Amino acid sequence: MLKRISDSLQHRGVIRTLMVCVMGILNLILRDDRVTAYRERRFDRKFGVDTAGIIRHDDLNIKDALRMHATLYQATQPALLEKTLAELQIDYQEFTFVDFGCGKGKVLLLASSFPFKKIIGVELAADLRDIARANLKKYAPKKQLCKEMEIVGMDAAEFLIPPWPLVCYFYNPFKEEIMIKVLNNIEQSLNRHPRDVVIVYVYPELDYLLQNRSFLQTVRRRDWCSIYRSNCRTQNQLGALRNEHGAELTA
Ligand SMILES: C[S@@+](CC[C@H](N)C(=O)[O-])C[C@H]1O[C@@H](n2cnc3c(N)ncnc32)[C@H](O)[C@@H]1O
Repeated sequence: MLKRISDSLQHRGVIRTLMVCVMGILNLILRDDRVTAYRERRFDRKFGVDTAGIIRHDDLNIKDALRMHATLYQATQPALLEKTLAELQIDYQEFTFVDFGCGKGKVLLLASSFPFKKIIGVELAADLRDIARANLKKYAPKKQLCKEMEIVGMDAAEFLIPPWPLVCYFYNPFKEEIMIKVLNNIEQSLNRHPRDVVIVYVYPELDYLLQNRSFLQTVRRRDWCSIYRSNCRTQNQLGALRNEHGAELTA
């Protein structure tokens, strides 16, 4: 450890070495599973819900044919979701929020503090779907701004895309085959009903599937979250979007 610090001091200098040390410590704290588990339990206790934990896809109540395409259950970190939604620059009241693979529904609960028109969770695993429905009934914080919430229990690939402006949320829920079908469904829906659709893809393992889609404009691409937006909007809207996101926006 001392050797690494002295090497770093030589190569990076004092200030950059200090910055690297602080980042290392922060990473250790923030990535510590025990801290995450503690925060999740505290959220559940506070609101009387059940969202915590990690469930391997082998242990999910899913038909065998679809199990191989699923990832595990783990809820999005609240701070990450809230920051991402707050930065979207949309008129929330015009948008329906859809979480593809909503698990126990934590994202739906958190999204309800934004004034979305409606919030929908799509979940394949029957046990998680039932827990999500129970959570929606129990969750009633003072700052809740959207109360119209629904869980749809089905394969996301079969879900009929609602013909309204949408925020489509994916937290790395499934593998390539299902993701392609869902993207095709969104594209076909946009062809039928051109409108504003925002795709938020967290831990975007299959980001390459979205990058070449002609119906999407890249708003932002980072390691932990990509954001895309349908390009069925006017040039003025796209210009404003570019100004908002500056260099992060690529054509
Ligand atoms: C990583 S979890 C994300 C949970 C939630 N979206 C969140 O961010 O808190 C992925 C979820 O996708 C669900 N899932 C996997 N394949 C699915 C499919 N074909 N259709 C719908 N849900 C699916 C899993 O059961 C799991 O609950």
